[in-house]
Amino acid sequence: MQMVDKKIEDYCIAKSNLPSPDCDSIEDYTRANVHGAGMLIGKMEASFIGFLLRSIEAKRVLELGTFTGYSALTMAENLPEDGEILTVDINKETVVLAQDFWNKSKHGHKIKSLLGSGLDIIPKLMAPFDFVFIDADKRNYIDYLKLTVPLLSPRGIIVIDNVLWGGQVVPGSESTGSNLRDRNTEFMRLMNDYIAAEKTLYGTLLPIRDGMFLIKKIEGNL
Ligand SMILES: C[S@@+](CC[C@H](N)C(=O)[O-])C[C@H]1O[C@@H](n2cnc3c(N)ncnc32)[C@H](O)[C@@H]1O
Repeated sequence: MQMVDKKIEDYCIAKSNLPSPDCDSIEDYTRANVHGAGMLIGKMEASFIGFLLRSIEAKRVLELGTFTGYSALTMAENLPEDGEILTVDINKETVVLAQDFWNKSKHGHKIKSLLGSGLDIIPKLMAPFDFVFIDADKRNYIDYLKLTVPLLSPRGIIVIDNVLWGGQVVPGSESTGSNLRDRNTEFMRLMNDYIAAEKTLYGTLLPIRDGMFLIKKIEGNL
């Protein structure tokens, strides 16, 4: 489901700062050769995440869900020279592809790939992170959120992708009816409800692409 009129989205993309041609190469290659290319965050979301990274002057990023390395490289391009991205994925095949692309970029040295499942790896990581991007297996999103909130730096934010799940979290909106989508719809609803009710989190859910939840820890009264 397209949340925003395609022509309007194209106009927004045309007027925004965008990922480099190195990122375009990953996008093009993935769309032509890799199953599941629809999972890429795409230019609009990448530009928005870049804006967030620059706004908070992020230096250390954790990403859950590397895939072919597109989102990691778009983020690396918006970090300082000594910035660092740890990116986690269980799929060795796509991570190998990602590493090849990063090696060709002058920002690739900022990215470190961690191969394994998010739930196994997160507890072994050293805090703090200024930015956490959750874009892996949907069933574990709520646990990824609970595990990463304590790892945030004071200026840190978490961005969770696909929280509208094609609009299906909203009863009465378009639905594909597949079992996987139905299960994931339920995971997304439960997590969105959890965030909305959680008094220690400040959340803003935006209808960008497939829905992005922006989350910050509430410290004291603020
Ligand atoms: C939506 S894709 C990530 C897309 C990527 N962020 C981008 O936009 O370029 C989700 C990724 O999560 C990975 N994944 C699935 N289950 C996982 C798990 N338990 N732990 C870590 N990664 C997992 C998949 O292998 C897949 O590459």
